[in-house]
Amino acid sequence: MHDKIPIEVSEFSRIELPALGLLLAQSDFLPWRFLSHEPRERAERQLLESLTAKLTAEGSGVLAAHAGGKLTGVIAYEPLPWESKTLGRKAAALSVLLAAPPAGAALDQLIGAALPILRADGSELVTAKTYTTDLAAVHALQKQGFLLMDTMVDVICRFEDSTSRLLAEAEKPSDFVIRLAQRSDTDALRAVARAAFPRHFGRFHSDPKIGPETGSRLYEEWIQACVEGWCDWIFVAEKDGRIAGFSAWKKPTAAESRQGLRLGHYSIGAIHPDFQGRGLFKRLTLAGMRTLREFADCVEGPTHVHNLPVQRGYLKLGWQIADSRHSFHKWIR
Ligand SMILES: CC(C)(COP(=O)(O)OP(=O)(O)OC[C@H]1O[C@@H](n2cnc3c(N)ncnc32)[C@H](O)[C@@H]1OP(=O)(O)O)[C@@H](O)C(=O)NCCC(=O)NCCS
Repeated sequence: MHDKIPIEVSEFSRIELPALGLLLAQSDFLPWRFLSHEPRERAERQLLESLTAKLTAEGSGVLAAHAGGKLTGVIAYEPLPWESKTLGRKAAALSVLLAAPPAGAALDQLIGAALPILRADGSELVTAKTYTTDLAAVHALQKQGFLLMDTMVDVICRFEDSTSRLLAEAEKPSDFVIRLAQRSDTDALRAVARAAFPRHFGRFHSDPKIGPETGSRLYEEWIQACVEGWCDWIFVAEKDGRIAGFSAWKKPTAAESRQGLRLGHYSIGAIHPDFQGRGLFKRLTLAGMRTLREFADCVEGPTHVHNLPVQRGYLKLGWQIADSRHSFHKWIR
């Protein structure tokens, strides 16, 4: 009966924040869901904080759905400056697709209302991510013409006793030196990304309007952004002065630290094809884990569901798959 009541969509107003709290309390799709041991209040506070910020941020906004005068759903939209610059096409994201069950009709209308706003703002590509179990959001996005581009598994490692033992083990002698990257390594890091990613299968490669060439360039830009400050540490494996591979890591974000969450992040990694299959991914991952242990209780590293070498390497190092998410794209121009 509930979904027969007409739904109205309008801009979200701050005075509805308490009602939004009720909606959050019912949701199974909050941030950091892969950290099942963490109190959910943190995730609820984080979502409220990020939605509040989107009410005033340039180019962002929040829409609300009401049925019978009651708040039944929200959606946020925001520009994606890095993707826009790198693709040379204006990109934006839909996020926080949240609705009270049965959620389908409200999400459908919220997405349908957000798209013309983004179109009018000049956006060409709209992206969205959902938990794979959030079927109402998945179906609403598909109904609105979004296409599934990839599925990532959220793999995490808790720094517990077993991991501590592994991290304390001495490294076997090797021809490869593991060291921190310098700014002067930027061109070499880009070259490794250029060589490693052409046959990748992530969401940029699988989008026919982006494709492997631009998709690979995106990863080159990504590692350069890491050097320029996006990441806190980049480790490289080097042999005879040649960089064979890298992995980039981040401390807990400011938002995570505000919520008292000690979560570290793996950002991007690649091994030049000349050096793949020699255990370098695992050695670089260990270097990142050893460094992050001081700043984090847990580290997360999303990877493509088909990236078997990464998943196998993680498994050997005590990581576990804890959740999974889909990425969707829709071109609106
Ligand atoms: C994925 C990648 C980083 C792995 O690096 P690597 O140094 O070759 O990996 P490792 O040698 O440490 O091997 C990791 C594990 O995967 C296994 N593996 C390697 N290739 C595999 C394949 N095609 N299928 C299944 N397992 C594979 C290895 O045998 C090893 O497992 P083991 O310890 O049981 O032997 C590298 O292949 C790469 O750069 N790929 C392209 C870019 C990319 O995908 N980056 C990661 C984005 S998250």
